[in-house]
Amino acid sequence: MTSQEIRQQFLDFFASKQHKIVSGSPVVPYDDPTLLFSNAGMNQFKDVFLATGKRDYTRAADTQKCIRVSGKHNDLEEVGIDTYHHTFFEMLGNWSFGDYYKKEAIQWAWELLTEVWKLPKERLFATVYRTDDEALEMWKTVTDINPSHILKFDEKDNFGEMGETGPCGPCSEIHINLSDDYDDPSLVNAGSPLCIEIWNLVFIQFNRDENGVLHDLPAKHVDTGMGFERLVAVIQGKMSNYDTDVFMPIIKKIEEISGANYAAETDIIPIRVIADHIRTLSFAITDGAVPSNEGRGYVLRRILRRAARYGRKINLNNPFLYQLVDTLVEQMGSQFPEIVENKEFVKKIIRSEEESFNKTLDRGIHHFEEIAGHLKKAGIKEIPGADAFKLYDTYGFPVDLTRIIAAEQGFSVDEAGFEKNMTEQRERAREATKSKIGIVNIIAGGIDDFETIDNNSTTFTGYESLSETATITGIKRDGSGELIILDKTPFYVEAGGQIDDLGIIRIGENKLVVDDVLKNEGKVIHVVDNGMGLLVDTGMEVIAEVDSKRRWDIMRNHSATHFMHGALRKVLGTHVQQAGSYVGPDRLRFDFSHFGKVTKEELAEIELIVNSQLRENIPLTHHRNVPIEKAKSMGALMFLVINMAI
Ligand code: ALA
Repeated sequence: MTSQEIRQQFLDFFASKQHKIVSGSPVVPYDDPTLLFSNAGMNQFKDVFLATGKRDYTRAADTQKCIRVSGKHNDLEEVGIDTYHHTFFEMLGNWSFGDYYKKEAIQWAWELLTEVWKLPKERLFATVYRTDDEALEMWKTVTDINPSHILKFDEKDNFGEMGETGPCGPCSEIHINLSDDYDDPSLVNAGSPLCIEIWNLVFIQFNRDENGVLHDLPAKHVDTGMGFERLVAVIQGKMSNYDTDVFMPIIKKIEEISGANYAAETDIIPIRVIADHIRTLSFAITDGAVPSNEGRGYVLRRILRRAARYGRKINLNNPFLYQLVDTLVEQMGSQFPEIVENKEFVKKIIRSEEESFNKTLDRGIHHFEEIAGHLKKAGIKEIPGADAFKLYDTYGFPVDLTRIIAAEQGFSVDEAGFEKNMTEQRERAREATKSKIGIVNIIAGGIDDFETIDNNSTTFTGYESLSETATITGIKRDGSGELIILDKTPFYVEAGGQIDDLGIIRIGENKLVVDDVLKNEGKVIHVVDNGMGLLVDTGMEVIAEVDSKRRWDIMRNHSATHFMHGALRKVLGTHVQQAGSYVGPDRLRFDFSHFGKVTKEELAEIELIVNSQLRENIPLTHHRNVPIEKAKSMGALMFLVINMAI
């Protein structure tokens, strides 16, 4: 049976049990900043479990593209060394949203595995959470599993959680023991490649809060996840996931372009690493991520570099990863049409990243050789932390790469020294924003030590008017300065790259200059210098006035970032997203990631688009402070609209 047939049978089986077959979510989650990549099928249903969202069905099934590269689930450096962990994998899942619970979940899982796919019952084991006697009883009554194959485990193995907080509950896993000693329960959860977990049934009934406390959810749900590649290996009778038809076409292509041999001991790990990593790269880039120096982009960069480094072990010294994309698309395109659509783009990004890595590698290796030469002469066997840092900072060498190259020449790396340099660099970055932090520290204790007359948040009125009559609701003295909280204010507090407003606060005939504004616990704090010793007290009425010329300059530059964003996406591609920005009265800066250098022609086109839009003088509309959902439905470039909200 082919892997495609197996996937289809899973979906058909649950469709026959009245499940709606749905699409998995993109592997790059746009809506959940707590998550780098989609790591389980349940991600897209988090809101349903928490009862903040609803679907028009109560049973669903799908295949979800998942990436797990670090943390509790996986260690990147291990992938490819064993036969059954991957950075990218498919998770087959079925769900009940307040519909069926443990009984049906267990019964159907057993039916599919043993009746449809006819897996040998005598090799299957079920685990349950140590106190979950209900699930244990179900296994005994609704299946014909050997009762001695039902085992109890604790939180580590049998309590399903998506992250530190969120929906969770006890779970029941199904393992298969492929060893000769198939009746031996001691292999279960023991990390043996001969006895692996294939399916996890999670019975969601709690929400874990920030303090680790469990709260009952309004309804009980089922969330299951089956490792597709492992399942295919079991059904196809292979001892390694890589030996299945999920990976073999890519492996054949790697053999073809490198001349390496999958059967050779020296070649097998590099081939597995590359076959695994090309899947992560292709799907992540398809869904909107690009290699960069931050966040998920940095993860992708590391993965690509790891694959490229392993490529060098099998004589692939020139860019080669991009050549595997066609094969992957042929293999997976019918299930995931998005990779067909984005094929050329994915190839372009991968190739350009490979090219730049090769250049970095050559420069860095040259520098490393110089360092190593000096050290060898001096009889030193450790690369100093400062040099490892320089390789990282100047040549873009991740420290794991330095470690590998160093080890090849018999050196270790002064890890503590490297870390110290990294910490110092972070400190320097922090220093750069110190003036602001200095004031933030004054109020870091919260609003508690302010003298206040109420606990209301400040209302922002600065999109309607730049001058506002307001009441002082809180005050704190700080040397010759005052920190003033107002009930309403036209002053914009830095957010999304747009800098603070400055201006004055008028008290009768007098005025205080506003040097800074901050936001804390919903209240806007105006930092003023009161060198002249004016009486300032709570309850007083004042007029808050923004420096309007400065604000208009800022707003013009803010509008320009929108035009620029649109133009960049049009000319360079829709992968361009704002990564950071500065919007001030004097200038603007717009950060984004792109896989190559922006050419002169492209730059000219971008300028032309922006300038022609500026000339149109489009009237300002007031779609601000809209909820995220609404912003999205307005079809706006949501990330910008959100950033604009104060
Ligand atoms: N959400 C469950 C898991 O990740 C199914 O294993």
